[in-house]
Amino acid sequence: MSPAAKGRFESFDSEVRLEDFGSEERFESFDSEERLVGSGSEVGFEGPSGENHFEGFAAKGSFAVSGGAGYKPAGASFHRIRRRSMNRIRVMTVFGTRPEAIKMAPLVKAMRGCGRIETVVCVTAQHREMLDQVLELFGIVPDYDLDIMRKRQTLTDITVRALTGLERVLDEVKPDALLVHGDTTTTFAGSLAGFYRQIRVGHVEAGLRTLNRYSPFPEEINRRLTGALSDMHFAPTAGARENLLKENVPEKSIVVTGNTVIDALIQVVDSDYRFSGLPLRDIDFGSKRVILLTCHRRENIGEPMAEIFRAVADIVSAYSDVEVVYPVHRNPAVIDTARSILGGRERIHLIEPLDYLPFANLMGRCHLVMTDSGGIQEEAPSLGKPVLVLREVTERPEAVQAGTVRLAGVKRERVFEEASRLLEDQGLYNKMAHAVNPYGDGKASQRIVDALLYFFGINENPPEDFCPAAGK
Ligand code: UD1
Ligand code: UDP
Repeated sequence: MSPAAKGRFESFDSEVRLEDFGSEERFESFDSEERLVGSGSEVGFEGPSGENHFEGFAAKGSFAVSGGAGYKPAGASFHRIRRRSMNRIRVMTVFGTRPEAIKMAPLVKAMRGCGRIETVVCVTAQHREMLDQVLELFGIVPDYDLDIMRKRQTLTDITVRALTGLERVLDEVKPDALLVHGDTTTTFAGSLAGFYRQIRVGHVEAGLRTLNRYSPFPEEINRRLTGALSDMHFAPTAGARENLLKENVPEKSIVVTGNTVIDALIQVVDSDYRFSGLPLRDIDFGSKRVILLTCHRRENIGEPMAEIFRAVADIVSAYSDVEVVYPVHRNPAVIDTARSILGGRERIHLIEPLDYLPFANLMGRCHLVMTDSGGIQEEAPSLGKPVLVLREVTERPEAVQAGTVRLAGVKRERVFEEASRLLEDQGLYNKMAHAVNPYGDGKASQRIVDALLYFFGINENPPEDFCPAAGK
């Protein structure tokens, strides 16, 4: 090897210049177990017994020389990429709520099917019953369960309990990468816990933005904080990727994967599905126009939610062939408002949260969807169902642009008007009721697996970005 090392190396974050390594061939890395070896373009990392040789590396911050036989980069955190001969990586997923579980389940399955990944599942159980429903359906038995949910928990409660529990688990598991999903408080706490332990964090469903700090609350800020803490960004759409680029997230750390929710949906929707429980078993989907309602968002709790429910009651009074099915979220604040305004009314069914299997199939059979949910905005368009979004803003503009989703706001008159137009104007309904797949093609999980293998140097090339077929 040449005695002096000077060179430029590609990195995740930036190009870094290494200058004047001197004549030493071995350098200690910040990461302790690995040494920086070689010189010039041959510089790489070597594991304790020389088994891993890495082709390149990245550094955050600058190098400082501490002298001695080798050089120790003080204040620099290495960011390994392109591990040449690494055979297996240990990837830990952290999730805690129903939507995270639905969207991580196909990814867990894909990782388990990959011989190069050892998969560890940790749930915070920010949700209990609603999480367990999903775990059971997809046959996931968590390796770690923090069991943090409490009735009427605050954001601080969730953050503190998740962070404390995760510290212990991360110390034990020592994963190469930690994957979080989306925008919940579990997501934020998970990415922070990973960052504190200097573990590479991968953000699934990265880059969605409303640019309104308080809507959705606290999800918009959870997403931004998670983005800042993450090393790998799995953006579901090209628009999400653009949002990240605008925030100067390094292009090479982003892969457009599609949304894993479509992978999950494909697994459960079945045109022959038969509902087993009441009231769904007895509803005549042929003669009734069934509106599927969900409403749970923190920023809607209180007066906005009451306004929405009054509009729903107005709709049912105005249209005798309309029937509403509302699987009510388990949040006691939601249950109280739902019961007080919608309880005991004819043709309004307030039911327990449905398992994902019947819920997805109900989405497939209903006439239209009214929701403030994030995930449902992604699922319903691919089933050809018009969606009225019960919010002022959405971080999922793609289906709005495609014409299947409309923002209906949270005011009684406006929500009623939007629903009435759809119920009366068949042309408008037909225009909205066409299947579009801006959010995925069912292969998002595999792309994320391939991207992980690429980021860790096991695969030579990154996966091709997801690109929805034009006009589909
Ligand atoms: C959380 C997420 C939100 C996501 C939603 C999905 C945050 C800040 N919010 O909101 O982004 O859209 O999940 O549903 O992370 N409860 C139960 N059993 C359950 C689940 C909830 O009893 O299985 C009750 C508990 O009283 C709990 C309350 O619902 O305290 C609220 O749950 P929490 O996770 O704090 O907020 P969500 O509104 O569900
Ligand atoms: N969902 C479900 N059962 C229900 C209501 C919703 O399985 O009774 C599914 C839905 O198909 C979607 C996800 O839960 O995949 C959305 O969860 P939620 O609305 O709680 O959260 P958000 O998407 O708003 O974060």
